[in-house]
Parts: sequence; C-alpha cells; structure tokens
Amino acid sequence: MDEELFAAVDAFVCETIVGEDEVLRGAVSAAQAAGLPAIQVSPPQGKLLQLLVRLVGAKRILEFGTLGGYSAILMARALPDDGQLITLEAEAEYAEVARQSVDGAGVGEKVEIRVGPALEALPALEEDDAAFDFVFIDADKANSPNYFEWSMGWTRPGGLIVADNVVRDGALADASSDDEKVKAQRQLHEMIRDDARVSATTIQTVGGKGYDGFLIALVEPESA
Ligand code: SAH
Ligand code: DHB
Ligand code: MG
Repeated sequence: MDEELFAAVDAFVCETIVGEDEVLRGAVSAAQAAGLPAIQVSPPQGKLLQLLVRLVGAKRILEFGTLGGYSAILMARALPDDGQLITLEAEAEYAEVARQSVDGAGVGEKVEIRVGPALEALPALEEDDAAFDFVFIDADKANSPNYFEWSMGWTRPGGLIVADNVVRDGALADASSDDEKVKAQRQLHEMIRDDARVSATTIQTVGGKGYDGFLIALVEPESA
C-alpha cells in the first residue's frame, strides 16, 4: 500500500476539482481542537456525496454518524433552501462541536442533530412519517445492516442509500473474518443480493484515509 502516493493524489484532486473551502477546513480544525477523531470522509469522498445528493434531487436526507458535521455540511449545501438533513450522533460532545460548525457554515436551518444511539432514534423518525431521498450510513459499523434494513423501509423509490467503510482494508473479501464490523459488511452485501427492491455496487477507495470503500444502493423506482 502506497499511502503517501494515495494522499498526494487526493491532494491534487482536492486542489484542482474538489474545491474544499475555508468553512470545511474550519470544521475539520474545530473537530481536531475538540479532540474528535479525524475519521470524517475525505474531501474527494465528501464531494461524491454532494454530487449524489444533487443527482437524486434530494430534499430530505438522513445521516447515521455526525462526528463534527463535516459530511453533514457538504450534504446540506447540496440541498435546496427548504431541504432538511437529520443526522444522528451517539456522543453529545461530538454533536455540540457539529452544531457549532454546521451553524458557522450557514446551513444550520437545514440540519437537525439528534443525540443518542441511532437505533433508539428510529421510532421517533417513524413518527415523522416522511420518507428520505438520501441516506448516508456512517456510524457504528457493526450496525450498518440494521441501519440499512430500516432505511430500505424509509427511502423513497428512486432514492439512494450510501454506506461508508464497507471494504475495511480488503477484509470484506475474507469469509473467515471474525471481526464483527467485517462480518456486518459481508452481511449487508448478502442482504442486498437477496433483495429485489434494490440495485447496488461497492466502489473501493484509496486516498488520505487509506483503503476502504463506499456501498451505493438505489432503491428501485418500481419498488413502491
Ligand atoms: N459522517 C461523519 C463521520 C462519522 S464517524 C463525516 O464523514 O464527517 C462515525 C460517528 O458515528 C462517530 O461520531 C461516532 O460517535 C458515531 N456513532 C458511533 N456509534 C453510534 C451509534 N450507535 N449511534 C449514533 N452514532 C454513533
Ligand atoms: C472510523 C469510522 C469511520 O466512519 C471512518 O470513515 C473511518 C474510521 C472508525 O470508527 O475508526
Ligand atoms: Mg466513515
């Protein structure tokens, strides 16, 4: 693995076409200053999320795992003025950092941060009785299949569900892995294989964040 080369390519892509600005860099600095782990999506990955949100024409987004609000700011920026992003975060301290950065980025009105374990936040979301156009699953990886299953019921036909960190340094291909996070990503792929309502792929990624990957799943338009 040539981490230095991957990081250099990310840097070039960033400087040329990704366009990470001061506000986003500020959100990363604020998270770092507050002692949050630097595990937000990379700038090129964040730009992909933003492009996907725009392609879907999303007005309502759900995110599992807020951290310092980096991916939330990117996705919220891709929403129309009356769009809404609900993001779920287990750590109150992280959510507070995210709140500051999201407000500072000028997208505060579009972003609602709900604090607590994501699974416990789902009943209240059901009460809202409104489907999502786009879901980003990026919280505790062992629960990704649970988050995906729930999201399948609450994403509109034609909507997109994206899951981060599914490749895990290639461990995804290891059928004998006893790592719960790896087993969960394999289970997620097997669930999708067996579900005619969804069409999906996984794209492996390298870059500043090492070797991992995104799963991208389209809820079939005719699945209503
Ligand atoms: N999406 C963010 C990164 C998220 S990192 C970005 O790219 O900017 C994963 C986050 O999930 C962490 O902040 C962690 O605290 C949170 N998390 C872990 N377990 C969780 C749970 N059960 N419910 C909600 N959030 C959880
Ligand atoms: C971790 C979480 C992430 O969402 C990520 O992209 C990388 C690492 C982690 O919990 O270590
Ligand atoms: Mg992630």
